[in-house]
Amino acid sequence: MSPLPTSSKKEYGDFQTPQKLANGVVSLVDTLYGTPEIVIEPTAGLGAFLRASAEQWKDRAQYRGYEINRTYIDRARRHLRDFGVQILRRDFFGEDWVCNLAQPGKPRVLVIGNPPWVTNSDLGVLGSVNLPKKSNLVGLRGLDALTGKSNFDIAEWMLVRLMEALPSDGAIAMLCKTMTARKVLRHFWKKDGGREDSSIFLIDAKAEFGVAVDACLFFARGKRTRECVARVYSDIDITSESTRFGFIDGSLVSNIDAYQAHKNLDRGSTTYTWRSGIKHDAAKVMEFTRCGDKLINGFGETVDVEDEYVFPLLKSSDLGNGRIAIRKSVLITQRHIGDETKELEHRAPKTWQYLLNHARILDKRKSSIYATRPRFSLFGIGPYSFAPWKVALSGLYKRIKFTVVPPCKGQPVMVDDTCYFIPCQNEKEATLLFDLVSSAAAKEFLGSLVFFDSKRPITIDVLRKLSFVELARDCGRADEFEEFARPESGGGMDTQMLLPMKP
Ligand SMILES: C[S@@+](CC[C@H](N)C(=O)[O-])C[C@H]1O[C@@H](n2cnc3c(N)ncnc32)[C@H](O)[C@@H]1O
Repeated sequence: MSPLPTSSKKEYGDFQTPQKLANGVVSLVDTLYGTPEIVIEPTAGLGAFLRASAEQWKDRAQYRGYEINRTYIDRARRHLRDFGVQILRRDFFGEDWVCNLAQPGKPRVLVIGNPPWVTNSDLGVLGSVNLPKKSNLVGLRGLDALTGKSNFDIAEWMLVRLMEALPSDGAIAMLCKTMTARKVLRHFWKKDGGREDSSIFLIDAKAEFGVAVDACLFFARGKRTRECVARVYSDIDITSESTRFGFIDGSLVSNIDAYQAHKNLDRGSTTYTWRSGIKHDAAKVMEFTRCGDKLINGFGETVDVEDEYVFPLLKSSDLGNGRIAIRKSVLITQRHIGDETKELEHRAPKTWQYLLNHARILDKRKSSIYATRPRFSLFGIGPYSFAPWKVALSGLYKRIKFTVVPPCKGQPVMVDDTCYFIPCQNEKEATLLFDLVSSAAAKEFLGSLVFFDSKRPITIDVLRKLSFVELARDCGRADEFEEFARPESGGGMDTQMLLPMKP
């Protein structure tokens, strides 16, 4: 039982490691690194890692833990009385880690443990002070950190500090989110290169900690090297299946071997351009469900607008689950980004009145992209939005699954801004493109670039790397493809996605 109330547990990112998992980690570290001279646990909690380490290496090493929580310290000291372990009451953020890890005459320092699982925004919500000083964040995440926007987690900050302080003969072995491990590696890969031996061993966080996150043991040791590559193992076991990820030709690649097998596809597209769906930031006002012949908005109000401004809509949850049955409609106020909407007052007076009735919400939309645009603007809108057929996918799901989206009752179907699509003119074109992007080659190539533990794993940048010409050739369908392929004006350089991102 945890001695902390729930909010404190959250504030201190408190997930104590089960002893069995700590034992497994220490045994793996013994294989990877051998016997350390000193073992340091920077946020020791109840001391599972110190105990596992002391049982493994006995008096061949020294053991020291740091922890902020007095109750844990008392309990850990009691449990570990017979193991020769020292536990200090310290706040990680007040410590000089270069000094703590530089042990005279003992260069083989192992930093092991499980730092708090909490983000700075969680702490903001909790009104917590368990944070590094703002000034210390400069340089780590630049402007984002200063403005408090960045949602980096505290573990990432701690791991970066520890890696910086680690002597070159030392090793680090920490449980954390896989995204955190990747960000830490990327930080060093960009700053001063890789480590000879960097690995991620995946763990089942649901089974071990009861939390549904992608988590791992992050391990790094050895001298700095130019190669920016880490191995990802499917289990806490050096013999488990593994892949390599890292920087190749300046891009971060999630599976280097799969990427290299399909590298010819990494040419970008000059024929088709991936688009993102409609962005409006006011679902309750702009999206409707149909009830008989009535349209109902998110407030349960019956909506009276001109039919030609209402289009069928598929959301991420539809595409992600392979549904193309239409459940929603969306109000479309423009045909191009920046179109003047004032004209609706005369052309579509009912729609204009509806927008005015909800202007309080629409005018308050947070994103600054609306500030300098005509009132009631949309983003992600253009002639491509009105293409009768689409090949689309959701960017939010943990698999690469495309769907052919046909028109609905003669109208083009819109998709929301978490989806991406290729506009097509007819069924034949859509079917061919669907076959191409659903081929094993395309899926392996895209999969080699996607990190499925990210919030939005599939991004337009990843999709836009794919060369349709090369893909059609690989799939033996170059002739068919030629029938449709047409260079688009602007090719991959279009500005659709840039506009919504503009600060
Ligand atoms: C995820 S738990 C892991 C505990 C232990 N390392 C283990 O593996 O069982 C994180 C620990 O970090 C401690 N902690 C949180 N903030 C801290 C800080 N600023 N300084 C030192 N310890 C801290 C918490 O009290 C908690 O025991």
